[in-house]
Amino acid sequence: VLHYLDNSATTRLLPEVSEAVCRALKETFGNPSSLHPLGVSARALIEEARVKIASALSVNAQEVVFTSGGTESNNMAIFGVARLYAKRGRHIVTSAIEHPSVLEPLSRLASEGFEVEHVLPLRDGSVPANEVLNRVRKDTVLVTMMHVNNEVGSVLPVDVVGRGLRDFSPRPVFHVDAVQSFGKYRIQPEEFGIDLLSASAHKIHGPKGTGFLYVRSGLEIPPYMLGGGQERGLRSGTENVHGIVGMAQAVSALGKWDFWGRVKPLRRRIEEGAMRIPGCSIIGPKQEGLYAPHILSLRIEGVRGEVLVRFLGAEGVCVSSGSACHTHRGGPSPVLSALGLKPKEAEEVIRVSLSVDNDESDADAFLSSLEKAVGRFRRVFRG
Ligand SMILES: Cc1ncc(COP(=O)(O)O)c(C=O)c1O
Repeated sequence: VLHYLDNSATTRLLPEVSEAVCRALKETFGNPSSLHPLGVSARALIEEARVKIASALSVNAQEVVFTSGGTESNNMAIFGVARLYAKRGRHIVTSAIEHPSVLEPLSRLASEGFEVEHVLPLRDGSVPANEVLNRVRKDTVLVTMMHVNNEVGSVLPVDVVGRGLRDFSPRPVFHVDAVQSFGKYRIQPEEFGIDLLSASAHKIHGPKGTGFLYVRSGLEIPPYMLGGGQERGLRSGTENVHGIVGMAQAVSALGKWDFWGRVKPLRRRIEEGAMRIPGCSIIGPKQEGLYAPHILSLRIEGVRGEVLVRFLGAEGVCVSSGSACHTHRGGPSPVLSALGLKPKEAEEVIRVSLSVDNDESDADAFLSSLEKAVGRFRRVFRG
């Protein structure tokens, strides 16, 4: 039996989601742009999904643009704003702990003449709102920050920043990468002052390769993908009907469970167990409200995370070393470096991430395998 504790990398498809996806694939296979009945019914499924997702954010359906996931949504938002306002200003504010799908587009913009300021987190991994707001200038066209950090679980004060930005004239566009928070935290773009918001289906038990970008009406970012003019011209390409349907089904399911009621006690159990292991510490904010309980980053002194992840995997326990996104690149995670960890220390970090699928048996399996791994390593080390 597998103990899956890597829910920030991706989540298991819900049975009702996989059913809805298969049904759409098999039965509603028409092109949504076609005018015959099969096209019309595919179009109806997409628009139904759009309404469902929009209502989760209390926004208008036309403000939801379907994309291939969080990465595309972030690229579309950042390059869109840069193109739209390049003449107004070339200053961008972000945090130093963003996902690569934000940092990489920004570094491309920096190479094209934009000035990008990365606000460093405090040592615990939190990012105070005033640190972000203090960087805003007359020529700031974009502030982009994530809501929940995927590696260490910091919760960033997007509501305070969004509201604070209202005091600036001209007001910069505010983009939020909500991939790790959508479906878990209350997010109200209008109330919070968010203009653009990225989300992804596969982090909420939906299918991979599908997501959306909320685009506040009135913000006329230029199209990202050119072609047939789908998605109000913003994102051409035949719509991923089954993916969109699956994402909406996953959003519908969110109300079925008490996410925090399940996840918080499990987090506590894992934390308490891990703290009994010598040399084990928590990386990331520790103050209630500043960390997301579903993401727990642990450093086990003297044990390489990668070794640990492989050992735990052999025991049927699935976790990540640092961020799964960095396994392609090698080198220490920029997020852990931003928290002040030296490369050797960053290599000793693993991430446990929880979902409603988890129970005590997963937490206990993790803890006993972790203990075993640490014991084994130390014997080898001493020998
Ligand atoms: C914070 C954050 N942003 C963006 C992404 C990218 O989303 P996707 O996998 O849908 O491209 C991820 C996924 O790992 C993430 O954790």
